[in-house]
Amino acid sequence: MPRRVPVKLVLFALVTLLIPALLTACGSADDNPQTTIDPAGAAADDIQNIYVLIWWLAVAVFVLVEGALIYAIFKFRGNKKLINGRPAPVHGNTRLEIIWTIVPAVILAVIAVPTIQGIATMAEEDDDAFQITVIGNQFFFEFEYPDIIGPDGEPLRVVNDMHIPVDTRIELTLVSNDVIHSFWVPRLAGKTDIIPGRENRMWLESDDVGAFVGQCAEFCGTAHGDMRFTVVADADEDFDDWVATNFATPDDPIEAGQQIMESICASCHLVEGTAAQGTIGPELTNFANEDQIADVVENNEENLRAWLADPPAVKPGTAMPNLGLTEAQIEALVAYLYTLDGSGGQ
Ligand code: CUA
Repeated sequence: MPRRVPVKLVLFALVTLLIPALLTACGSADDNPQTTIDPAGAAADDIQNIYVLIWWLAVAVFVLVEGALIYAIFKFRGNKKLINGRPAPVHGNTRLEIIWTIVPAVILAVIAVPTIQGIATMAEEDDDAFQITVIGNQFFFEFEYPDIIGPDGEPLRVVNDMHIPVDTRIELTLVSNDVIHSFWVPRLAGKTDIIPGRENRMWLESDDVGAFVGQCAEFCGTAHGDMRFTVVADADEDFDDWVATNFATPDDPIEAGQQIMESICASCHLVEGTAAQGTIGPELTNFANEDQIADVVENNEENLRAWLADPPAVKPGTAMPNLGLTEAQIEALVAYLYTLDGSGGQ
């Protein structure tokens, strides 16, 4: 009579086979904007190629090892002679041990070659590439474009949305204003830590026009989860338009102030009826009627100017960093902030 295979074993085998099938159903970049396995540029391609190589080697190892195990279970079950009711002990098998030492060593050597090449490629610095400085803050990212100088002589600086020209190598210099953060746009490149007192470098490139979601990947405080950002790859004309829009300052200081509020301040502050919807810092919808600024100084124009120019100088330990605002930006913000009387919707 043929031996019956236990039902539990059959179920286990089925589930084991189903798991990879289910996992491959999770792979679309539209459903999972932070997927690493749908690369959109040269740096991410390098990582994906190494990952795929390791994946297939792991599949081969899995099939061989599990196959040998299952074969041995069925082939040798119950047909060994027993000594005192136990199977005979086996000590060593030189040939087998040499094989299972050499085979993994060869596999690791095969993985090491593209990995070391990949690390070298990632570390290449290119001073001729398009330069952007990424500044980590609790809890938002600033992006400074050192080679794009505005009418006021200051480089272009934006918050949370980093625009880049498509098909262009972008060289990033990563610096921190406070603690350790990590810059990560999974579809464009690997992650790189942003460490206070250091300048780390990385590069990325996008083959496609579109928006790519990024996230701080190093726990940096209570609002670490809010440190999301977007990298938008533009066609060259669109990129130039975007730069021009950022430099266009409305003549009306109140309008200019709202523009600054909705770009720079919006990552932390909320003003009802505007695009400023941040939740990290205090709400500013009723700022004009507040008695104090940051609970420390009287709310008047002079104190507000000093606060905007250098918050930690007014309130040591405050979560609001020195944003390096220009005189003109500060004047515009002062004009705008005193229009905020709680009614919302400027
Ligand atoms: Cu910044 Cu986590």
